Amino acid sequence: MAVKIGLLGFGTVASGIPFLLKENGEKIRAAAKDKIEIAKILVKDDDEKNRLLAAGNDYHFVTDVDAIIKDPDISIVVELMGRIEPARTFIEAALAAGKHVVSANKDLLAVHGAELLAVAKEHRAALYYEAAVAGGIPILRTLANSLTSDKITRILGVLNGTSNFMMTQMVDEGWTYEAALAKAQELGYAESDPTNDVEGIDAAYKAVLLSQFGFGMTIDFDQVLHQGISTITPDDVAVAQELGYVIKLVGDIRETPSGIAAEVSPTFLPKEHPLASVNGVMNAVFVESIGIGESMYYGPGAGQKPTATSVVADIIRIARRLHDGNVGKSFNEFVRETQIAHPSDVKSAYYFAISTPDKRGQLLRLAQIFNSEAISFGQVLQQRANGDTARVVIITHSLSRTQLSNVLEKLEEVADFEVLNTFKVLGE
Ligand code: NAP
Ligand code: HSE
Repeated sequence: MAVKIGLLGFGTVASGIPFLLKENGEKIRAAAKDKIEIAKILVKDDDEKNRLLAAGNDYHFVTDVDAIIKDPDISIVVELMGRIEPARTFIEAALAAGKHVVSANKDLLAVHGAELLAVAKEHRAALYYEAAVAGGIPILRTLANSLTSDKITRILGVLNGTSNFMMTQMVDEGWTYEAALAKAQELGYAESDPTNDVEGIDAAYKAVLLSQFGFGMTIDFDQVLHQGISTITPDDVAVAQELGYVIKLVGDIRETPSGIAAEVSPTFLPKEHPLASVNGVMNAVFVESIGIGESMYYGPGAGQKPTATSVVADIIRIARRLHDGNVGKSFNEFVRETQIAHPSDVKSAYYFAISTPDKRGQLLRLAQIFNSEAISFGQVLQQRANGDTARVVIITHSLSRTQLSNVLEKLEEVADFEVLNTFKVLGE
């Protein structure tokens, strides 16, 4: 008897599943202890169904989700439509009907994961979502299984393939922002609304999931500070290179004495940091822990086949558990009371780019403002900008988020100083 699955959506990722089931059928069957068969696929309407059939896709396409959810022969529902609704309603209905669910939908899981997991638990159903974080990197299962003996203190990650691909093309190849985004969309890396990719929202969703698997705490999406790549200017890139750094969009989740903190921001990485050489669509998750010390998990963060590989791994896991009679085990069993870090405990070095009239005493005034918040300078660079304007770049020593917001407030009060950008700096 084959294990029958129903796909919700047949876009970039879902259409990679048949390739794996066909090309790796023997191994998959051995691991799952049963053949896995696509029984039905939900598409939006008859036009889409006819288009897919005409293109040679020989599947049973349906346009009503009940045809899948109410089908007693289907045991696993695979949601690959994306966005919150109707994915949330469909998954909830599938779980309530006793179906096991696989999804790659980080938007949904980061915001409504707790309620969906409660429905899954109530109905003794599995809800797995390995592909939701870092596409082809099996990071969630690694955190949940292989690293259970270790205590994780910090997770740093290049977590968005689209923005990392764009940054690489723009910085290394001189592409425009628009051309890089269009290519990321063409290659199937970007979300249907790429705002999530470029504004750090997609990576922030992933940070929420990593906080659960790595630290056992659920940080709300709204508590993840996030900033995207659109704020990075060519001047920032040039000065980073001059000072020995690479700028990347980095997710950072860490435990401090008062709780956990998570943020996604353009970050200055020293060129020798392992994350600094993660380019293109590649992602990496850099884990600091008390046992292993430092470890990094690297691979494609987006794209059809890498992501479908993670999805199929979840399907196989469920099929095997169905065979062994122990399905329903929670994907992540590490749960602690959530404590959010106090801003005074969250410390980093920072890069400041400040525009100021090029006149005597300005550096002294800047130093006085930073000193009034007990912030010390690591590196200072003054560049001539246009006409009478200078651009001052400061890399500070470590300061807390409280000091950061205080100094920004003070700089704001001085009309002479315009803060052009502020990014976190690692390794100072
Ligand atoms: P996609 O190419 O946009 O595919 C989604 C498909 O679902 C589209 O064909 C869409 O149709 C269809 N759909 C949307 N609403 C539907 C509905 N109500 N009924 C039936 N079909 C519906 O997206 P994707 O890139 O495959 O991503 C799927 C999921 O995987 C998302 O949650 C995404 O975040 C996640 N993911 C993607 C990647 C990646 O590399 N692409 C990596 C990791 C995770 P229309 O196009 O007509 O709307
Ligand atoms: N749009 C996402 C990215 C897909 O580019 O990383 C993988 O989650």
